[in-house]
Amino acid sequence: MAGTAAVPAAVPAGVPALAAEPRFAQRLRQRLEEQRLLDGRYGLQRLPGGRVALPVLPERLPELRLPCELPCELLRVQDPVPCRAARRGTPARRLRDELRRLLGPAWCAELERDVPHAWHRHGDLVLLSEDCFRAEPWERLGSALWETVASALGARRVARRGRVMPDGMRSPRVTLLLGQHGWVEHVDNGIRYTFDVTKCMFSPGNITEKLRVASLPCSGEVLVDLYAGIGYFTLPFLVHAGAAFVHACEWNSHAVEALHRSLLLNGVRDRCRIHSGDSRQLQLRDVADRVNLGLLPSSEEGWPAACRVLKKDTGGVLHIHQNVESRPAPRGAELLAGRGSAGARRPTGLRAEWQSWAEGTAARIRGLLAELHGRPWRSSVLHVEPVKSYAPHVHHLVLDLECRPVLPA
Ligand SMILES: C[S@@+](CC[C@H](N)C(=O)[O-])C[C@H]1O[C@@H](n2cnc3c(N)ncnc32)[C@H](O)[C@@H]1O
Repeated sequence: MAGTAAVPAAVPAGVPALAAEPRFAQRLRQRLEEQRLLDGRYGLQRLPGGRVALPVLPERLPELRLPCELPCELLRVQDPVPCRAARRGTPARRLRDELRRLLGPAWCAELERDVPHAWHRHGDLVLLSEDCFRAEPWERLGSALWETVASALGARRVARRGRVMPDGMRSPRVTLLLGQHGWVEHVDNGIRYTFDVTKCMFSPGNITEKLRVASLPCSGEVLVDLYAGIGYFTLPFLVHAGAAFVHACEWNSHAVEALHRSLLLNGVRDRCRIHSGDSRQLQLRDVADRVNLGLLPSSEEGWPAACRVLKKDTGGVLHIHQNVESRPAPRGAELLAGRGSAGARRPTGLRAEWQSWAEGTAARIRGLLAELHGRPWRSSVLHVEPVKSYAPHVHHLVLDLECRPVLPA
């Protein structure tokens, strides 16, 4: 991990922050200030895509509650912007000064506004957001611009991102501006992920779910991850949760290559088989103690495959992701930031819509399993984890569903 500047001791895996739409940022900031949770060492920061990140004191994370009426997500910012006072003499300033020198008399306020204050950094590669260096005069500088950016920031490669393409494969539109290749390494919760920034994206979201998965007791279990991506869940299951073996399914060849390399990097390649292709067509049967279905807005299309891979004599646990819509919660109701464990039932606060989605899903899966095996199954809701809110009334939930065959009396 690296920051934009010599900031006060950063948390190794980035600075925790709440990300919210700009219209909620001020109220959220007030709320954090009142609760003394705002980390004043860093400024508020615009994230790629437009949301604003509000830094949270890492040592007070256990006290953090996500307010229902202010949709936000807990994530980690890899490139925190130091507060204004700390910014003097930082790489951001060095970047501006060197560009001003390069431009000479052509320097103007418009260009100054176009110089980024923040960026993502992956080793020697600086990943700029899409909204910088857009003014026309920059183009005339050609490669000198990117060489200056790299040298000011102590990097060797420069890339700029666009939006993630809506192609079902989460392909990023990232252009390499300086350097020969886009392969980078990212360390998160002690796990090394490698991927090509021009072909795959590292999603900084879902952090609470990745941590939760890492803490699940999966010792000796066989897992199937139906939507493995670059290994967001496959790797925590293998590295931290003690899974004996993971079957990882993924149809994006770039993600498959990244997953393969990351498995090697973390020394767990021998405990994972990659199934490259459409997980709905997966030929595996009767192998899994646990199945992860991390696809949004819904993983429903993967439910039949999940039922087929579950062990037919003993069953197991499904982790089913879904975006679920609900009516506004009563004022003051709050969600506990996702820190549950798979076995823990949420005692209170499970919204009626979530409960009914969980029960409806449990019934559907029970039906699929009974039809598949020609005998009754039971399914019990172990836990519902709210991962993040997308809009005031849409939440990314994960249902932990225990499914077991009913044994003859
Ligand atoms: C949203 S990512 C999930 C990554 C990770 N689970 C997460 O939440 O960050 C979904 C991944 O599933 C893959 N995918 C979607 N549908 C698939 C299918 N039918 N078969 C195999 N892979 C699929 C996409 O290519 C993508 O890499």
